[in-house]
Amino acid sequence: MGRVDGKVAIVTGAGTGIGFAAATRLSEEGAKVTIAEFDAKSGEGAAEVLGADAQFVQHDVRDEASWQALMDKVAGTHGRPDILVNNAGILATERNQHLAATDLDQWRAIQTVNVEGVFLGCKYGVAAMTADGGRAKGGDGGGAIVNMSSIAGLIATSHLVAYGASKGAVRQLTKSVAIDCARKGLGIRCNSVHPGVIVTNMGNQVMGMGNGNVEENWKARLDLVPMGEPGQAVDVANCILFLASDEARHVTGAELVVDGGMTVV
Ligand SMILES: NC(=O)c1ccc[n+]([C@@H]2O[C@H](COP(=O)([O-])OP(=O)(O)OC[C@H]3O[C@@H](n4cnc5c(N)ncnc54)[C@H](O)[C@@H]3O)[C@@H](O)[C@H]2O)c1
Repeated sequence: MGRVDGKVAIVTGAGTGIGFAAATRLSEEGAKVTIAEFDAKSGEGAAEVLGADAQFVQHDVRDEASWQALMDKVAGTHGRPDILVNNAGILATERNQHLAATDLDQWRAIQTVNVEGVFLGCKYGVAAMTADGGRAKGGDGGGAIVNMSSIAGLIATSHLVAYGASKGAVRQLTKSVAIDCARKGLGIRCNSVHPGVIVTNMGNQVMGMGNGNVEENWKARLDLVPMGEPGQAVDVANCILFLASDEARHVTGAELVVDGGMTVV
């Protein structure tokens, strides 16, 4: 029996990178997964790889109507969601985001995807998970929400001012949602995940910032990782799987750091 057997899961930004790895691990462990992705090509491809129990829904985390349509579609095909991974996020720049170099449009674009997207996800996710009225009203709904933050939400990121602020907001929002759900007896847990440097498109984008020398910058950055190697998407996916599963039934409002020891030193 899989670790999330029969559960209904939604992963945003799951066409590639960490989102795809999370969708894959959830599917391997028995969940029916919806790939909620902005980019149709990667989203369709991801659902095809996962097979018959997975589906792709084109989705924009910034758009409230898109959240309602996503929840309606999942309810109609797989049923009431048990797991929501708010993974989609952007860095939105090829250049450093020092304070003086960050303009308001760029700041807003990042907050809209990374913060408003997660806020809407939590709001629509909790509503869908408690569509039967919730446990406090005799229903048997409930579930697990996993929000994607970053070590950028824990420590200063003077070269990524807007991104760091967005991930700090996700960390804090997660705790408020966790306590709101717990106090209302909804049976919904909410936790955040904080990756360090992970090999994905975004990881390469971060490394290309400044001098554009991706390879050289990966080497320099790895000096800051006590474990001496970058994380892989599946390393983060396995942490998401744990938090999404019933193994984490007493864990809520927590922050799980996946950074090879980077923020400890
Ligand atoms: N890679 C890293 O080193 C790292 C470290 C810490 C945190 N993170 C976070 O992990 C998450 C995934 O990052 P990744 O490295 O896999 O990035 P990625 O760029 O490889 O994947 C992000 C996915 O999100 C999708 N997306 C973007 N905007 C969207 C929108 N408006 N609606 C729906 N989908 C949208 C993209 O199409 C893409 O498929 C992000 O939230 C990121 O901030 C990544």
